[in-house]
Amino acid sequence: MCGIFGYIGNKKNAGEMILSGLKSLEYRGYDSWGVAIKKDDSQIYIEKHTGKIGDASLPAMDSSIGIGHTRWATHGGVTDANAHPHISCDKKVIVVHNGIVENYEELKKQLIKIGHTFTSETDSEVLAHQIEEFLKEEKDLHVAISKLRSQIAGMNAVIVFFPDKETFYIFKNGSPIVLGEKQNEYFVASDASAIIPYTKHVYFVEDGEMVSLNRNGISLFDSEGKNKDIDYITLSYNAEAVSRGKYPHFMLKEIYEQPTVIQNIASSQLETVKETAKRIINAYGTYLVGCGTASYACLAGTYLFSKIAKRHINFSIGSEFSYLLNFLKDTSLVIALSQSGETIDTLASVQKAKAKKAQLIALTNVLGSTLYRMADYSMLLNAGPEKAVASTKAYTAKITFLYLIAHEINRTLHEGVQNISRAVREIEGLLERKSHIQHLANRIKNKNNIFILGRGVSYAAALESALKIKEVSYMHAEGFAAGELKHGVIALIEEGTPVILFNPEDETYEDTLSAAHEVKARGAYVIGVSSRKNDVYDTFIEVKNCQDATIIPNVVIAQLMGYYLALAKGYDPDKPRNLAKSVTVK
Ligand code: AGP
Ligand code: GLU
Repeated sequence: MCGIFGYIGNKKNAGEMILSGLKSLEYRGYDSWGVAIKKDDSQIYIEKHTGKIGDASLPAMDSSIGIGHTRWATHGGVTDANAHPHISCDKKVIVVHNGIVENYEELKKQLIKIGHTFTSETDSEVLAHQIEEFLKEEKDLHVAISKLRSQIAGMNAVIVFFPDKETFYIFKNGSPIVLGEKQNEYFVASDASAIIPYTKHVYFVEDGEMVSLNRNGISLFDSEGKNKDIDYITLSYNAEAVSRGKYPHFMLKEIYEQPTVIQNIASSQLETVKETAKRIINAYGTYLVGCGTASYACLAGTYLFSKIAKRHINFSIGSEFSYLLNFLKDTSLVIALSQSGETIDTLASVQKAKAKKAQLIALTNVLGSTLYRMADYSMLLNAGPEKAVASTKAYTAKITFLYLIAHEINRTLHEGVQNISRAVREIEGLLERKSHIQHLANRIKNKNNIFILGRGVSYAAALESALKIKEVSYMHAEGFAAGELKHGVIALIEEGTPVILFNPEDETYEDTLSAAHEVKARGAYVIGVSSRKNDVYDTFIEVKNCQDATIIPNVVIAQLMGYYLALAKGYDPDKPRNLAKSVTVK
């Protein structure tokens, strides 16, 4: 979690670039932020604040080197002092850190014993003091950093800034870090989207590697300390993709991008779809794994594979998969779904699956992400950067892939592609009618509970829909299998409780309609989502039948509902409280 940004170059506005880099990384954590900048007059400028960056600016200064951090606190409260960067006692070592120093207590105790003074409660601060300590005996920065790495436990991504030497040391274990290069200017960031306004020429640092960077140039070392060439790659998207453009929020922009993203998959990703289908057919068993929204895409996948491809495909949430994988063999296939490709709960469990020699396919949105690099075969969602914390386009892109793969296994890919085009048209229609959903959001914004019901694949859609509403509006929303409500939870239905009912005209139609009657009889306000109108619905949202691809437009309704509920309640939908986009801690 957290965003890191660093700059060394010949421009005089390092401060401005660092702040703007942090703003674009803020989706990764927004408890607090801070910068450490060496000005041209050799003074070190430090600023640290709690809260979001918002429209903060730094005082005018000439500078061409510095680092910054946006925090998602793990150790120590959200205070100015705990915000990064952290600095050694002699002020010669400045550190920004993403991750956790698992053994920090022990290191801190030792460091205090030998005279170091700590100014924060974070685990991260030990890094700066420990390096200072090593440098008392060992003048070589490289050796000191290597020593530090061998002492610390846990996932991390770190920039160590030596202001006197105008040098950065960069290393990582598990968490992402990207270098950008442009004619003697270097950028370091947690995510390439912060670098793209300056250069498309990037390198994704690997675990175990170390980078030293100063005004004379850059050196990359492998995990054995040997010098290595840097194979830069060119990013395929541009700076526009990472800005809000004409939209008030990233969430709305990303909801609007869905028709294009989904249509592109159905037009230009079919070779990838076919390759994965082949691998599923040849596998002994296939397991879908992901967290949060990705897990609900996995659950939807199990229904789609069963119904369309006549295949039983297992599913597990990422944080539970480790406890379920004892039966994996070298012929098993694990498909890990992750927008960021950095979710630790997913990565940790698929690592265990790999240790059992299972094959791994990644379905991710981020080229060069840890999952992407870990997999035997990677499918890229090609949805463009997703910046809003609540995942929208990455979810529908995942469903599109799974749906098409299921059709390919059934040898009906053409039909699948046609249904995806129908789903795209339905999303476009919903976006045109979004004021209806906004009106509904205003009507239900003060209710205590919202229930979302569906059967079959619509049950998976109900779970994802509830998550979307909860995440951004902080309202209690629960997704249920429509048949399950009457086994207990119907007790919560009272006069006016909103119930969103996904009722596509498939094998679930009649039974789901019965659920509508059951909740209506207890006073619910029923919002029917279907291709067929019925008097039981208090409000009707029409979604034409796109066969099993109807799940895609259906979830878009909940995305819009969540978005408008957040607005109605005065919340920022892009940065919901307590959440961060990439969850890189357990
Ligand atoms: C999505 O709206 C959530 N913020 C969250 O559940 C997310 O889907 C989950 O953390 C997994 O992320 P990933 O797809 O990047 O692995
Ligand atoms: N563990 C560190 C802290 O709590 C870093 C957290 C982060 O990755 O933002 O400050």
